[in-house]
Amino acid sequence: MKDLNIEIAIKIYTYDELTTADQALMDAACEATRRSYAPYSHFSVGAAARLANGTVVSGSNQENAAYPSGLCAERTTLFYANSQYPDQAVETLAVAARNERGEFLEEPIPPCGACRQVMLETQTRYNRPMRILLYGTKGIYEMKSVGALLPLSFDASAMEV
Ligand code: THU
Repeated sequence: MKDLNIEIAIKIYTYDELTTADQALMDAACEATRRSYAPYSHFSVGAAARLANGTVVSGSNQENAAYPSGLCAERTTLFYANSQYPDQAVETLAVAARNERGEFLEEPIPPCGACRQVMLETQTRYNRPMRILLYGTKGIYEMKSVGALLPLSFDASAMEV
């Protein structure tokens, strides 16, 4: 028997410690929560992606009466970015969420598994690490790449013979 211990590096920042560009990106993610369509969960998520050329795009969760037809903020944003700017790598993705009382979460919003997988595809597609910033009022988590959110991940390389 052997052990495999995987270490994950996360930096925790206060909002004031972020660079001006990251503050603006986080502001865009927070602002995007206000455009969420979440009549079922009342959980409003916003995401903002800064592309390699500096363009910032944002998106929010969009729900549906047929629940699985809805989509998370992260995938809404990444699919929009990738479809509008297919030649631009996503350099940083910022995510924020508000609860049903309209308050931003204290702890950093943890992206769901499906969104982590889509983040990985985006990173792999552009062959460039994608930084992730997760907003919490008590601290903002920074991960230098999607690997920190999805260890032992499945990507196309697993299918190569
Ligand atoms: N949601 C997101 O948009 N992103 C996350 O990281 C977690 C969950 C959405 C999906 C659904 O609209 C609502 O939050 C409750 O799960």
